[in-house]
Amino acid sequence: MGVGVLILVALVGIAILRQGPQATPLPGEPLNQLGQARGIVVGTAVRSQVLKAKRGYRELIAQQFASLTPENEMKWEINEPQQGEFDFGPGDEVVDAAKSAGQVVRGHTLIWHAQYPGWLKELGPKRLAAATKEHIAQVVGHYRGSGVVNVWDVVNEVVADDGGLRESIFLRRLGPGFIAGAFNAARAADPKAKLYINEIGAESIGPKSNRLYEVVRGLKAAKVPIDGVGFQVHSNLGGLPGDFVANMQRFKALGLDIAITEADVGLKLPPSEADLRRQARIYGRIVRACKAVKCASLTLWGFSDGHSWISETQAGMGAATLLDEQFQPKPAFRAVQRALAGS
Ligand code: XIL
Repeated sequence: MGVGVLILVALVGIAILRQGPQATPLPGEPLNQLGQARGIVVGTAVRSQVLKAKRGYRELIAQQFASLTPENEMKWEINEPQQGEFDFGPGDEVVDAAKSAGQVVRGHTLIWHAQYPGWLKELGPKRLAAATKEHIAQVVGHYRGSGVVNVWDVVNEVVADDGGLRESIFLRRLGPGFIAGAFNAARAADPKAKLYINEIGAESIGPKSNRLYEVVRGLKAAKVPIDGVGFQVHSNLGGLPGDFVANMQRFKALGLDIAITEADVGLKLPPSEADLRRQARIYGRIVRACKAVKCASLTLWGFSDGHSWISETQAGMGAATLLDEQFQPKPAFRAVQRALAGS
């Protein structure tokens, strides 16, 4: 064997080791198939960086999920960092991965009080309204062309925990009409995509979800093009409120699709075996709640503990997903399989 060949073999070996072990296929029926049998599109949040770098990540996603949500790649600060200068590269990487695996993409998110570019702060009401309209037209227009982005989280987290509308640059400068404006702009840019309002911490019936309900009812009454309500469901061992299904039902009764859009169950680190079993039970309940309202889709906010925002943003918390850092199934994985399959 020549020296050149040896060097090549060594380089390939190093590349493989750097990416970590090859993921073995997960046991049992894949989540996407179990979901399909129930009419539920099962998805996960993904990261374009990890898609490129981590061995096994892309394969697992292709094997287990029918839908991808870019965790950050379609947020305003990423795709329009300077006014009028669009960077669709990171989002397109997620779209390309979905295309090659025959998946759909949930566009996330157009208008949000976080992760928007600094230049927005310089704009007065008129220019901010125009920039918002243009942003939605460009982003939704671009991804309409991809053929796989069939849902948008048009506005994200617009209600405050106390039941008011959430304070934001959009509310402050444009007034509450920014919500209807965003839906109208999204519909104009893509007549077919399903348009959602997405909310965090609105699982129980109370001031926050009551306000969300009023907002949604108002939009419907005004014939604003809204198709669905997304419940994020970032949970922990506190579990799900007992009235979660009843809460979702009242939104469904307005004639809207319901989705669980960002499910995870954070644990205190390091989790005990008992914690992992409790986590599994909560994941099972999340799936059954989704089934109870005939939800359109169920999306996990990441599927591996090595790539999850909980450990990155909440001190002392983590282990929030179905698989450990080595892509090995935790009890929660089987619980989700069983709950999807069960009657
Ligand atoms: C989070 C991402 O997971 C993190 O990587 C990022 O640093 C902050 O945003 N609600 C949402 C998501 O709608 O976009 C958020 O995602 C989590 C809370």
